[in-house]
Amino acid sequence: MAKQSKQFTCQSCSAQSTQWAGRCDACGEWNTIVEDAGVKSGIGAHPAAKALRGRAVNLVGLDGEDAPITRLKSKIGEFDRVTGGGLVPGSAVLVGGDPGIGKSTLLLQAAAALARLGERVVYISGEEAIAQVRLRAERLGLKDAPVELAVETNLADILATLEQGKPPALLVVDSIQTTWSPQLDAAPGTVSQVRACAQQLIRYAKSNNTAVFLIGHVTKDGQIAGPRVVEHMVDTVLYFEGERGHQFRILRAVKNRFGPTDEIGVFEMGDKGLSEVANPSSLFLSGRESGTPGAAVFAGIEGTRPVLVEIQALVATSNLGTPRRAVVGWDQSRLAMVLAVLDAHCGLSLSNHDVYLNVAGGLKIKEPAADLAVAAALISSLSGAVLDPQSVIFGEISLSGALRPVAQADSRLKEAAKLGFKAALLPSSLTDKRTAKSANLSLSGLESVAALVAHVAALAPKKLETVSEPVSQAG
Ligand code: TYD
Ligand code: MG
Repeated sequence: MAKQSKQFTCQSCSAQSTQWAGRCDACGEWNTIVEDAGVKSGIGAHPAAKALRGRAVNLVGLDGEDAPITRLKSKIGEFDRVTGGGLVPGSAVLVGGDPGIGKSTLLLQAAAALARLGERVVYISGEEAIAQVRLRAERLGLKDAPVELAVETNLADILATLEQGKPPALLVVDSIQTTWSPQLDAAPGTVSQVRACAQQLIRYAKSNNTAVFLIGHVTKDGQIAGPRVVEHMVDTVLYFEGERGHQFRILRAVKNRFGPTDEIGVFEMGDKGLSEVANPSSLFLSGRESGTPGAAVFAGIEGTRPVLVEIQALVATSNLGTPRRAVVGWDQSRLAMVLAVLDAHCGLSLSNHDVYLNVAGGLKIKEPAADLAVAAALISSLSGAVLDPQSVIFGEISLSGALRPVAQADSRLKEAAKLGFKAALLPSSLTDKRTAKSANLSLSGLESVAALVAHVAALAPKKLETVSEPVSQAG
């Protein structure tokens, strides 16, 4: 009889190997390789797997009559926006986020909202006891909502329960890491368990037209723990993010088969749960101190929506051999690039300065369009110049020091005008007549980063020291 070969899986990247090792070759993580406990005697495998010969399926054309999708709207505007205008029946959604960020609160509120609208909603909690969930419902004022609640982690029991009565319109499983299938020997939370449970729940969703929400934990480096694979299996991946100290929470669609990605919903966590923030710009800009150097207002786009946010920089003389670069809400390597461009093309060397960069309000910005605002905040902090508090800034910086145009300039400018801003600094290629007339702002077009330095330096009380000769002026 052939020796049964063993299978090992990395719990971090799900790479497979035939041997155990202390370190995963694929992702380099330590102590993540676990022996796969295979599926017991074939149960749990896809039912069709038994048939050796497949059956022929119908092939159809692209044009055909299908019933239009009716999306389930929770009437929580920010939640519906992120899901692409409501939940699609039969779709599977993964919601990831740090522990304690408010995933269970959000999903309970959404579940209760749909239940109140007359849909059948089932909420399975694997992490909290009934009393805890009830306590939360009471705190949120949702006790009267007809949500059907159970505490269970055994997937077979969950599926058996669901088979009674009509399939729910919405099923929430909190969380996928605590759910385990008795068909596998592996411990709950391992890649094989999480993958198998997600697969069976997704199969349930598709065959019963139920929208399924899987709540997933996030590791310290921001990935959904263990099962990156689950991200590929589901239709939609949402991340619930925010800074611990802030009450703002952002729900972001990073993948959506049924709607736009990068769409955000903004919430505020209060003592009665999450409330919607319909106008995020005014919220991110509230509490702004005008008149301090190092602050620039960036006109950004999140999904389909313009969002204004303050970027704060602090540049301080450093005594360290390697000066500090600390970034909250933006990309560290992007900051390194902006610093390098300032050094190479404007002669502003920050190699003996610590640099701190913060996006106010807990928003995480992904757009390169923030380059110019970051550069402006850095130069402002370095020179002590106060940027015009009535002015917004946006534009992408290229490695040559030139400024590149960015998308949706019109909506950025319109949002700025709506919030009472008077001026905008932007790449000169965007200051054509079309954008100029669309907003009641005075536009200053900049050709290059050097022009930005000159613009800020003109506002400065002290002269900027350029350390080295900038290359752009060398030739
Ligand atoms: P929770 O939804 O349990 O987070 P997760 O499921 O992502 O782990 O949220 C827990 C946090 O939210 C907790 O620190 C308390 C806070 N919270 C409020 O501030 N107000 C509220 O009304 C609720 C229900 C929770
Ligand atoms: Mg929770």
